Amino acid sequence: MKVLILGSNGRLGAALVRRWQTLPDAEVIALTRVQVDLSDPEKAEAGVAAVPFGAGDVVVNCAAATDVDGCEKDRDGARRINTESPGRIARLCVARGARLVHIGTDYVFDGTLDRPYTEEDEPKPLSHYGLTKLEGDREVLAASPAHCVVRVSWVFGPDKPSFVDAIVKRALTSPEAAAVHDKTSAPSYTEDMAVWLAEFLKFSVPGGIYHLCNSGTCSWRDYGEYALECAKANGVPVLTTTVAPLKLSDMKNFIAVRPPKTPLDTAKFARITGITPRPWREAVEAHFKNWKA
Ligand SMILES: NC(=O)c1ccc[n+]([C@@H]2O[C@H](COP(=O)([O-])OP(=O)(O)OC[C@H]3O[C@@H](n4cnc5c(N)ncnc54)[C@H](OP(=O)(O)O)[C@@H]3O)[C@@H](O)[C@H]2O)c1
Repeated sequence: MKVLILGSNGRLGAALVRRWQTLPDAEVIALTRVQVDLSDPEKAEAGVAAVPFGAGDVVVNCAAATDVDGCEKDRDGARRINTESPGRIARLCVARGARLVHIGTDYVFDGTLDRPYTEEDEPKPLSHYGLTKLEGDREVLAASPAHCVVRVSWVFGPDKPSFVDAIVKRALTSPEAAAVHDKTSAPSYTEDMAVWLAEFLKFSVPGGIYHLCNSGTCSWRDYGEYALECAKANGVPVLTTTVAPLKLSDMKNFIAVRPPKTPLDTAKFARITGITPRPWREAVEAHFKNWKA
């Protein structure tokens, strides 16, 4: 089976390439922006079409315009990358007999529910990033019932720094740390995602939407504080493990509106695959075992 990974230089894409290269039955084809530039949908389709793949193969799209504020500034660009190109690639996959696994986001929701979001909950994006991602999900699912949209949240891992790495790095030189306390979700560890997403390479897993992240719920502040504790426990000389609370409404430099509460309910994935994602704290501990600034 060929597995084409778009966005192979990204946080998630790089982890999938690294881990899936060891899978016995998969030939991994890593595609970066150089081969497949989603900002030009026609060229993006041609870039994927140039790869010889066909029936029974899988394309995994980890590429996206992920700069949430940047998507407000360049709305047309965000639509081309997050909506139009995934739609074209989804239809190309149908023509070739292949499945598309498209990575989505918790930002399709408005974050007002008091329980984790299920796949059936109605999306109401607050930002252009969320809107263009949602429309991308819809294009992908309209192309084929065999395609999958896997919505993840707060992606972190060893291949590219994210929030937890930034807060620990800063604490190497500053005793002050602060993070938003009234925004909650769950982190998604790319090393775990590589195991979970491999399930979607099996055609026995039905198409449709899946929510997937580590279990439990936390705020950015909880997440940052636990990262600092784990880093310290592993010998990283941080100057603090205390994170002062900030309010989401105080983040004046944010251009896009962020949803306040977006934990994702992963029961559907667990029911279909038999895999229950481990708690986010265990994943953060694993991340800081061999962490380097
Ligand atoms: N990061 C999060 O917290 C988070 C949360 C929820 C959902 N997600 C979703 O998870 C997926 C993976 O995100 P990530 O965290 O791995 O993000 P990332 O590190 O920003 O990776 C995104 C990838 O997309 C590529 N890309 C951007 N513009 C492109 C274009 N015009 N043409 C082709 N490739 C382009 C980037 O290429 P370059 O390497 O060349 O820049 C990068 O490899 C995305 O669908 C994202 O929406 C992420």
